[in-house]
Amino acid sequence: MTNALGSAIRHEWTLDPDFLTVNHGSYGATPRVVLAAQDDWRRRMEAQPTRFFSRELPEALRAAATVLARALGAESDDVVFVPNATTGCNAVLRSIRLEPGDELLHASHVYNAVRNTMIHVAERSGAKVVSAELPFPRPDKATILSNIEKAITKKTRILVIDHITSPSGLVLPIAEIIALCHASGVRVLVDGAHGPGQVPLDLETLGADWYVGNCHKWWSAPKGCGFLYARGDRRTELHPVTISHGYGAGFTQEFDWTGTVDPTAYLALPAALDFFARLGGPALMERNRLLAAEAGALLASKLGTEIGARPEMAGAMALVRLPFEMPPTREAAVPVRAVLQAAGTDCPVHGLAGGPWLRLSAYAYNERADYERLAELLPGVIDRLRG
Ligand SMILES: Cc1ncc(COP(=O)(O)O)c(C=O)c1O
Repeated sequence: MTNALGSAIRHEWTLDPDFLTVNHGSYGATPRVVLAAQDDWRRRMEAQPTRFFSRELPEALRAAATVLARALGAESDDVVFVPNATTGCNAVLRSIRLEPGDELLHASHVYNAVRNTMIHVAERSGAKVVSAELPFPRPDKATILSNIEKAITKKTRILVIDHITSPSGLVLPIAEIIALCHASGVRVLVDGAHGPGQVPLDLETLGADWYVGNCHKWWSAPKGCGFLYARGDRRTELHPVTISHGYGAGFTQEFDWTGTVDPTAYLALPAALDFFARLGGPALMERNRLLAAEAGALLASKLGTEIGARPEMAGAMALVRLPFEMPPTREAAVPVRAVLQAAGTDCPVHGLAGGPWLRLSAYAYNERADYERLAELLPGVIDRLRG
């Protein structure tokens, strides 16, 4: 494979050529070569299911976990596969013991499903969910740190913080946030649903208590490939959402078997990481970041609006404001999305700071021309929404 990117390599994916794909962030897109690797595993599994599950899988899963751990800057026993970030966050949050009056802290751009999980565990134990305000647009690091610090009390038991926020695409200063929390005795669960493959990771140095990530987004693994990292001293009392045969037998034993599922997305991860490395690895992440910045600037200038992040907090997703007002509800975004889809494209839309914001993604198969095409489509989309 060459270092050519953009439309020159789009044939590596099965993407619909008639649709403008600028939303890699939501679900990723799996390249053909990775799907083929997954098919190979599936054939092995179905040739002799009994042999596969009882004899081959335990070792194959740990071998894939070793490759994953290397990519994360961790040891193989520190990581287990989970189907997705939601499941990983559920495992941690449902495992921690809470007393009435305890506080669970998140930042205001928290992913809705994870906030719901926090509400659920708080309701069970008489604890409380507290939110620290993330200013938007273009927040600075000092204000974010100070808002989190102000929200910590003697009752705060855990901070759940996104590595990269979902509605606003901000790459948060998680190393500083973790240090701040640890200084107050607060444990930190990093929700890195968008981290792996979008920004470099070195989990051992980072020192989070738990880090949950998706491999199916920015590493382009097959769908249903996520992981949970737990620091050595944070594994006792940590259990999967589904308790199975390994209960009480230790972190990897408990999570490696949670009942019969198709594990081929996990087993194809090494093929995805190979593909990602061949496209450039760290150089690809930097190229995607620069392309997202270019896309954001182009769109904001065409629309006469603004972008969401300062350069030091920007990743491969750029937020661009649309030139009308919108309340911050999920319902309000539905018609905007529908008109975008009717125009042959799609990206998440969130109501922040009084207006709708488009979240554009930049991945290996994207190039500037994609955002130029979007810039041509958007005036018609906006006219329809205003009219
Ligand atoms: C911050 C964050 N957490 C969790 C998730 C959920 O990911 P999944 O659906 O793979 O569980 C997302 C999805 O985009 C996200 O952005």
